[in-house]
Amino acid sequence: MKVLILGAGGREHALAWAVKKSERVTEVVCAPGNGGMAQIARCLPVNVNDLDSMVALIEAERPELTIVGPEVPLSLGIVDVLTEKGFRAFGPTKGAAMLESSKGFAKRFLQRHQIPTAAYALCANVEEARAEVENFHAPMVVKADGLAAGKGVLICQSREEALHAVEGLFSGELLGEPATQVVIEEFLEGEEISFLCLSDGKHVVPLVPAQDHKRIGEGDTGPNTGGMGVYSTDELLDEPMTEWILRHIAEPAVRGMADEESPFKGVLYCGLMMTARGPQVLEFNVRFGDPETQAILLRLESDLVEAMEACVDGRLCDAALRWTPGASACVIASSAGYPGKYETGFPISGLDAAGRVPGVEVFHSGTALKNGQIVTSGGRVLAVSAIGDSLPQALERAYQAMDEVRFEGMYFRRDIGHRALKKQ
Ligand code: AMP
Ligand code: GLY
Repeated sequence: MKVLILGAGGREHALAWAVKKSERVTEVVCAPGNGGMAQIARCLPVNVNDLDSMVALIEAERPELTIVGPEVPLSLGIVDVLTEKGFRAFGPTKGAAMLESSKGFAKRFLQRHQIPTAAYALCANVEEARAEVENFHAPMVVKADGLAAGKGVLICQSREEALHAVEGLFSGELLGEPATQVVIEEFLEGEEISFLCLSDGKHVVPLVPAQDHKRIGEGDTGPNTGGMGVYSTDELLDEPMTEWILRHIAEPAVRGMADEESPFKGVLYCGLMMTARGPQVLEFNVRFGDPETQAILLRLESDLVEAMEACVDGRLCDAALRWTPGASACVIASSAGYPGKYETGFPISGLDAAGRVPGVEVFHSGTALKNGQIVTSGGRVLAVSAIGDSLPQALERAYQAMDEVRFEGMYFRRDIGHRALKKQ
């Protein structure tokens, strides 16, 4: 069968790599893809922020399965449109994607279904927010309602700072566009876990857990990014805790969406804070994580396409996922200046040598193929990923591969996995 993957990042490169391994797949098309994906699949231009552009491409290519990588096309309703036209697409509908596209919707949903999350207030204007800020202790968290690529969350150390953040979000000063709603939230303390699961609208099957490193600097300092590295081990969550999260978070969420006639099909990414009073939902994403996917898919032994088809067809219980025990890790190489301004177009060397390190896959996050040369084209450039018998081995392999790679202004964190290594 022919599979088309929408998106252009490291997540989509890892998806294309895993899809290509499926015995059921004869052709992989990526749109728009990147320099790495161009080496394993046919890449076609498309604007993933424009429904018409995506629909025209899919009508021309007629894939048997479309996999939607990023959140924007999902929130625009690409799955609704494709399904209506008779195409099979993996991902939630526009309505179900509101779990990610509206933090206000997500918080009310969590409350309606008694799923553990931080105490919050939803405010429609500055006056409401001014009154609500008084009800929270510092530190507190202020969030814009819509999709903001990780930039819409502000951790505030005082009420004054929170008010300032609220004003900045409503005026448009902080995000470029004025927020329509703002969430004020209790600050939660603990370790963050990315708990992803597949769902067919009814059943839930967890993927192996992962831990992301969102800050740019070592020791988790500096501004938030899309994610600078991630690892996955079985020790991250023991079986009773996995069961608890399934029973109290993932399953009630999927059941709740079905009860509200907006069944959730696709990947539900539960961003969790493991607090003293148990796991709490920080956010839902309605897509694979980036870079979580790069580490998670390295450990997947069974056929990803088979599982995705089971989700689309509503028969997920048939598709058990099998995983390689041990660990995997992914370290991001980024451009100088990221997550702020950065330059692109720098040639990248050492990719072949990096790819020869045992257990390593070098996924491309922001690269382009120009006159036969791979060059940088984004803030996050490479996702150097490795599998191993243990976390130290996976990390050692990823860093060994990273040491082969060079491009101007290359930056990466040397402390990915530091929390888990300390516990060993
Ligand atoms: P979100 O987009 O809601 O996941 O927020 C982005 C990041 O901000 C999370 O990954 C956390 O690191 C942090 N964060 C969000 N909400 C909270 C909270 N209530 N308490 C502490 N940290 C938070
Ligand atoms: N790594 C965080 C995300 O994909 O949202």
